[in-house]
Amino acid sequence: MVASPSTARQTTDLTLAPARQRVFSGMQPSGNMHLGNYLGAIRNWVRQQDQYENVFCIVDLHVLSQPIAPRTLRQNTIGLASVMLAAGIDPGRSVLFVQSDVREHAELSWMLNAVTQFGELNRMTQFKDKSAGKKDEAVSAVLFSYPVLQAADIILYDTDLVPVGEDQKQHIELARDIAERFNARYGETFVVPKPDIKAEGARIMALDDPSKKMSKSDARPNAAIALEDDIDTIRRKIKRAVTDSGGEVRLAPDKPAVSNLITIYGLLSGDSVAEIEARYAGRGYGDFKADLAEVVVGAIGPIQARLADLHANPEHVRAILADGADRARAIAAAKMGVVRERMGLGAG
Ligand code: AMP
Ligand code: TRP
Repeated sequence: MVASPSTARQTTDLTLAPARQRVFSGMQPSGNMHLGNYLGAIRNWVRQQDQYENVFCIVDLHVLSQPIAPRTLRQNTIGLASVMLAAGIDPGRSVLFVQSDVREHAELSWMLNAVTQFGELNRMTQFKDKSAGKKDEAVSAVLFSYPVLQAADIILYDTDLVPVGEDQKQHIELARDIAERFNARYGETFVVPKPDIKAEGARIMALDDPSKKMSKSDARPNAAIALEDDIDTIRRKIKRAVTDSGGEVRLAPDKPAVSNLITIYGLLSGDSVAEIEARYAGRGYGDFKADLAEVVVGAIGPIQARLADLHANPEHVRAILADGADRARAIAAAKMGVVRERMGLGAG
């Protein structure tokens, strides 16, 4: 007999209290994690750990959408796991694992390709952005089917909520459509996930150009604050950050550069926008930026200190990931049994 998804779900929660909702999110080990990744994603994962049942995934298969040296990919994977742990992901409260260590992700992705339409993938803005201006030969099929693997990641775990930055909204909506279509065609199998995108911090902009989001792939040296930037570099980048005309520290649509800096200040200090505006009323950008640099250093400094310890002990990080993969696999394998049955795959 094949367990229904809801039965499978209940067995993971042995208490009588209502089951907590499950969170799943992922990040690519593509190097250069920055303040936008922290404020838009990792920080929220850490803060919500007690509220939900959490599964966090280092999505190495997704990185294959762009050329990368095998050795670099491995290093990035351990590096990102270390950053997540240093930022406060607690293996006692959250499952942390590497996507390709749980083969079911790639397997489900193939099956979900069967209920995904070419047109849907062709409309994804990330695909359009990343393939724009490139020759067909330079655009891999992985870049095109990337969102299908992302849908597999999410729905494999009966995920209720997916905490991500704004740029992932379209991918989560596609995951919902794919789950609904599968359920309609093969019977109720997957929980339909919802995006969890915060009103603030979901789109941190580049420090040198507030019309562009802070991004890992940006080559401009002062665009992003990397989580591993040293303290002097952080101070220098904030000092050089572009500002708006007028000189006033105020959050407003016509002040995109300063508004972005105020958002960063507010999220990292816990102060409200009104408090920040009042504190710097009648003072110039100089004072504000100098204080902002200390706020950022104060938040990132302790993460970097823990990171240095983890860098010295990669075996410890590997052991956490191996344990996480075992726990993730237990959930994923049960779900794949249901999927194979529903789709009529295998000899039965
Ligand atoms: P990526 O950098 O594409 O691997 O994204 C990893 C996570 O960070 C996703 O949840 C993104 O939505 C989030 N993220 C990336 N860039 C930003 C940004 N500039 N502001 C807020 N969140 C971001
Ligand atoms: N595409 C996401 C990004 O670039 C990474 C990702 C892969 C992801 N699978 C996921 C995010 C599942 C959330 C849930 O940020």
